[in-house]
Amino acid sequence: MATDEAPRANEFGPPSPERREFLTRLSIGLSAVIGAVIGLPIVGFLLAPLFQRPEEAWRPVEPVSDLEAFRIGETVQVTILDPSPLAWAGLAARTSVWLRREAPREFKAFAVNCTHLGCPVRWLADARLFMCPCHGGVFYEDGRVAAGPPQEPLVQYPVRVQDGVVQILAGASPLVSE
Ligand code: FES
Repeated sequence: MATDEAPRANEFGPPSPERREFLTRLSIGLSAVIGAVIGLPIVGFLLAPLFQRPEEAWRPVEPVSDLEAFRIGETVQVTILDPSPLAWAGLAARTSVWLRREAPREFKAFAVNCTHLGCPVRWLADARLFMCPCHGGVFYEDGRVAAGPPQEPLVQYPVRVQDGVVQILAGASPLVSE
C-alpha cells in the first residue's frame, strides 16, 4: 500500500565532511599519544645502557688468567669481558687487550685500538712495535707514538694479580671521550 508520508530525516546519518575530518584527526592524534605512551618507555629501556657509563670492574684475562701461563717479556693478545655486558651483546661484550708480563708480578696492558681513528693495532714481536694497518701509525712497546698520524700513546689499563689470576680493570671504551 502506497503512503504519502515523506521519509523522515535520519538523525544518525553520515557525518558531515567537517565532522569526519575532525574525527579522523582526533583518531590519529589519540593513536600517536597512545603509541608514545607505550613506545617511549620501551625505547628508553632498550637504549639506556648505551648512554650509561659502566662502572669499572676487575676482569680476569682470557683464555687463561693463570699467572704462570705468561712468559716474562712476551706480549700476547687476550680478551676481557666488558664491565657491564648487555644480555644480547654476545661476542661484542669482549674487548681485546695486548698484555705483556714485564716481571714476575708486573704486567702492562694496552688497548688494541689505535689512538688515531681506532683501528686495531698489531704487535710485531721482532720489531717490538705496535703497528696500525689503517694509516701507518706506529707505537713503541711502551705505547708511545713512534710514527704516523696518532698524537696520543696507546691507552693503558691497570693490571693486578689476585690469587694467582691476572686481572685487568675494565671500564668504558678507551675511545669514548670523557
Ligand atoms: S687509525 Fe691508526 S693510524 Fe689511523
